[in-house]
Amino acid sequence: MERDIARILIRREQIEARNRELAAEIAAQYDGDDAGLTLVPILSGSIIFLADLIRLLPVKMKIALVQISTYPGGTTTPGDPHTVLELSGDVTDRHVLVVDDILDSGRTLRRVQAMIHARRPRSVRAVVLLRKPAKAPPDVPVDFVGFDIDDLFVVGYGLDFNDHYRNYPHVAVLHPELLT
Ligand code: IMP
Ligand code: MG
Repeated sequence: MERDIARILIRREQIEARNRELAAEIAAQYDGDDAGLTLVPILSGSIIFLADLIRLLPVKMKIALVQISTYPGGTTTPGDPHTVLELSGDVTDRHVLVVDDILDSGRTLRRVQAMIHARRPRSVRAVVLLRKPAKAPPDVPVDFVGFDIDDLFVVGYGLDFNDHYRNYPHVAVLHPELLT
């Protein structure tokens, strides 16, 4: 795996430090609010970020899963997002925080936000570890952002290429000849 990596963009220590700041911001947002909080992580890219973030959040919460697939295997060109797993838990009348690895074109998050709004939640917010501001559309609101990055295809810390590299601990760029 290591030899496929061209360069590290964000080291795990930087991510850990930023996660602590994000958790403090998020905890302050929901502090003192008695309506329940449900986190909705978008599978599979958000799993590592979710696991680290929720253990820093001293907030009572439930988790409801949703899985959206955007990249047909072995490509860095997004296809049409389709729903692989419908929302697995109840969000009606609850505060919802959607968790995703990266905001790129915004199509994935737009679809998930629409799915959640249809179930009449108390509120809907979103946190993403990474955002590509060059592409992120203005109509997809995101409340908490870890890092803004250039318009590059990145892997690691949950992000994949053809379902590989999710376990690489840093956010990194692959050697270009590997990307088709
Ligand atoms: P969007 O729908 O274009 O915003 O893309 C969001 C989804 O595509 C994310 O949840 C990721 O799973 C995936 N994605 C977008 N950019 C990248 C990338 O640079 N590397 C790996 N996956 C990405
Ligand atoms: Mg994803």
